[in-house]
Amino acid sequence: MLPVTLREGADLDGFRRAVRRLVARRAAPEDVVWSSGAPSLFGGDAEGESGDAPPVPLPRAVGALVETVVCHREPERHALLYRLIWRALAGERALLDQHADPLVHRLALLDKAVRRDIHKMHAFLRFREVPEPDGGARYVAWFEPDHFIVEAAAPFFVERFESMVWTILTPVGSLRWDRRSLMTGPPATRTERLADDSSAPDRFAEGWRRYYESTFNPARVNPAAMRAEMPRKYWANLPETAAIPGLLRSAPTRVQAMIEAEAATPRRRMPDKAVAAMARQAPETLAELNRLIQRSEPLVPGATQAVLGEGPEGAAIAIVGEQPGDQEDAQGRPFVGPAGRLLSAALAEAGIDRGGVYLTNAVKHFKFVQRGGRRIHQSPTTGEVKHYRWWLRTELSFVRPRLVVALGATAALALSGRSVSVLRERGPMAFEGWDGFVTVHPSYLLRVPDGDGKRQAYADFVADLRRVAALA
Ligand code: URA
Repeated sequence: MLPVTLREGADLDGFRRAVRRLVARRAAPEDVVWSSGAPSLFGGDAEGESGDAPPVPLPRAVGALVETVVCHREPERHALLYRLIWRALAGERALLDQHADPLVHRLALLDKAVRRDIHKMHAFLRFREVPEPDGGARYVAWFEPDHFIVEAAAPFFVERFESMVWTILTPVGSLRWDRRSLMTGPPATRTERLADDSSAPDRFAEGWRRYYESTFNPARVNPAAMRAEMPRKYWANLPETAAIPGLLRSAPTRVQAMIEAEAATPRRRMPDKAVAAMARQAPETLAELNRLIQRSEPLVPGATQAVLGEGPEGAAIAIVGEQPGDQEDAQGRPFVGPAGRLLSAALAEAGIDRGGVYLTNAVKHFKFVQRGGRRIHQSPTTGEVKHYRWWLRTELSFVRPRLVVALGATAALALSGRSVSVLRERGPMAFEGWDGFVTVHPSYLLRVPDGDGKRQAYADFVADLRRVAALA
């Protein structure tokens, strides 16, 4: 029997070293006894001897599976992985495609659980602002993952919050980022989290709460689904949960108000037949499509003109907004109002030339209600977004961008065909037919109250655009 003791937690390096040595000795899985508990140990001196053992060539998919499954809490994980590796080395082909194989099936479940846990940490971890004596700020978060995922989840936070100083405390390890390097540390306790808490007003948390309130759709309230997606154990760390009871209580009244407002909005629905007729005309160029858009009537009357997309055909990046605003409607060009100016500034900061990007909207006409001398923007309904999808898809098929960026939930709905939670799913996303990326709409940034929260929201938006530039 060969005893192998790895470090407690996700000891990927230790596992790899042990596998090298075991394979070099031709140790069969049934001859190895795996256990965890500091320090890494392989029959006495893992470090010294493993250096001599050659690397083990594994199929890429098996290597990727090892990286996630070592993060699972399952005590048998190393034994299971070594059995899989042994079979891969024996020449079994397309091993991971054998879904009915009990070992493959079991490992697939472990892999899925770890991925889900990482996703939850990315979605539900919330930083709290802790003022520093020098007037600066540092951010601290407490999170309780199910598995040993802290290091695997870390790159996301480094990328998203690169310009902040932050600490993430969890019962399975901690992370600290000082704007330059990432340090890992020992497990923390809730008491340490409380010691790090501050009674000062938490503007960062307030920003999250307001964002949640502004994106909450009372017509889609489904408490069971909300609980399933955001399990109770995360609630204590989420600033926005304070807003949920009030939002749920007011949902029926708000839905009724929405229905009344819809009924009061005059409608001249373009019959589906008309859209079908246009599709039959099958425009062969973007210019032809644009002529069709210009000749079509707005779905909701009032707009001065259709606002066409702008930018070079063949642009690597296409950015899709919601719908034209007041100034766009007047000038007939996308993103020339306040949100557009903010977008231009953020693009420039991210090193993206606005002139080289194709800019367009999910909905091509401005929709508004008149209040005195002002035309107040009204968000498009799901039906209206669907109506304009044909235009958008045809337009993008002419532009052929490498990456399509959805600004906000309406654009994400138009591009993916489903309702997208921007905060939770922010980042790369496969749209129907295009590589995509989801981020917030610049008008959201305009609504965030002034202060650190606003600066952070803007910095996150610029960071997203930098990722977009890298991906495209
Ligand atoms: N907001 C949008 O989504 N599009 C525009 O063109 C302007 C503001």
